[in-house]
Amino acid sequence: MPVITMLSPKGGVGKTTTALILATELAAGGRTVVMIDADPNFPLARWAGKEGKPGNIEVIAEIDEDEIIGTIDAARKRADYVIVDLEGKASARATNALMMSNLALVPIQGSELDAVEAARAFKVVRNAGTARQRPLPYAAVLTRAPASIRLWPRDLKAVVANLEGAGIPMIATALAERGAFRGLFSMGGTLADMTAADVGSLDTARQNAKAFTSDVVAMLKEGVPA
Ligand SMILES: Nc1ncnc2c1ncn2[C@@H]1O[C@H](COP(=O)(O)OP(=O)(O)OP(=O)(O)O)[C@@H](O)[C@H]1O
Ligand SMILES: [Mg+2]
Repeated sequence: MPVITMLSPKGGVGKTTTALILATELAAGGRTVVMIDADPNFPLARWAGKEGKPGNIEVIAEIDEDEIIGTIDAARKRADYVIVDLEGKASARATNALMMSNLALVPIQGSELDAVEAARAFKVVRNAGTARQRPLPYAAVLTRAPASIRLWPRDLKAVVANLEGAGIPMIATALAERGAFRGLFSMGGTLADMTAADVGSLDTARQNAKAFTSDVVAMLKEGVPA
């Protein structure tokens, strides 16, 4: 039932990848998931067209701003989780999706520029909460981070410190830069279908995806400061 929307005004920060990691992990745990591909480039619909999509994930392409509310409403009535993937710019479609969401996730890569763009996304989310007279919980997600925190560059650490200083909730598990995550799109299917011959560090990628997903589920359960 919860609706999770991936949002950022900046392109290429990892919204679609994060959405697919989350969906495939939830599905691996036996949940039914509807993914709403609201990006006119239809990256998730293309993934769904490849072999290996689990039966408990349904992907719906929906870019009509007048239809997206109805599409999300129908999806949340039949699925355990609904995940909406938006394109990297503001739109009426994005605003409508936020009206229907229980959690907005804002992926950030660790540069000052990303952080500035993300601040706009947080503002958009707060505005959505004001408009619907019900705060929309949100959290930042660090994506494409070096796998070991010891290797995090100084600007990434600064971004994290700034988010903390600004009181922005964060998903505790960062998503690392992993070939396995890119491979979801080139190979189709899920991390469970890949073999060590396909990609390196598969086990650590799987652990990362699992830990990230349980953090998101916990945040939905426990709520985030809005
Ligand atoms: N954790 C990750 N590890 C490795 N590669 C990643 C990761 N996250 C994203 N990428 C890569 O970064 C690029 C952009 O990612 P993605 O398409 O998910 O971003 P996006 O925010 O959805 O972009 P857009 O704004 O165009 O929709 C892709 O090539 C993707 O494979
Ligand atoms: Mg995308």
